[in-house]
Amino acid sequence: MISDLNSTPVAEGSATNVSTDARTLPEDFGPIELVVTSPPYLNGTNYCRNTKLELLLLSLIQNEDGLMDIRSRSVTAGINNVSKRIREPTLIPAVEEVALKLDECAYDVRIPKMVRAYFSDMQIVMGTTRSAMKPGGRMVLDIGDSRFAGVHIDVPTLLSRIAEDGGWEIEDVEVIRNRVSKDGNPLCQKLLRLCSR
Ligand SMILES: C[S@@+](CC[C@H](N)C(=O)[O-])C[C@H]1O[C@@H](n2cnc3c(N)ncnc32)[C@H](O)[C@@H]1O
Repeated sequence: MISDLNSTPVAEGSATNVSTDARTLPEDFGPIELVVTSPPYLNGTNYCRNTKLELLLLSLIQNEDGLMDIRSRSVTAGINNVSKRIREPTLIPAVEEVALKLDECAYDVRIPKMVRAYFSDMQIVMGTTRSAMKPGGRMVLDIGDSRFAGVHIDVPTLLSRIAEDGGWEIEDVEVIRNRVSKDGNPLCQKLLRLCSR
């Protein structure tokens, strides 16, 4: 890793960590002109477990128990994040349409819980970010759709609806890649361009 970093040209500039959880920002933070983000995909990726070596190497955790705290600061996006520790999700009518289908047919009860928690967490992220935006500020968000137990979850469309309800204007939605789900059905990756009204 050190050798990779040493051989990679690094852009000039500085970076500041303003928050370790995008659901909370410092009260006096902003106004933000531009947000470029790739939030967690609703695909079961366990970001904490997959990066535990890096987290250890960077002293962000001392041992495996430290993952629990990081998990609680993460947007619920993977089945392993679903636990009693996550906050009670806000029910979002458009999300309920798919979550209720998953209540019926998902092979694991944690799947509909994960879906409800994901959109509820992302509603907080979009709202917190929106409140810190400069009027007319923009967000470019990369996101893909998902499929569980044969139920298609159109994450870009659901996130767009949540964003609109929270005061964002959808300027553009662009398909940037076509993907395939585990069961062979088409999925895609999209860029949402949003503007804070
Ligand atoms: C799709 S990945 C994008 C990663 C990054 N853009 C990159 O290219 O390496 C989503 C990232 O969001 C992070 N994440 C999850 N919950 C978060 C939260 N509450 N606040 C900030 N980041 C979070 C995950 O740990 C993961 O690194």
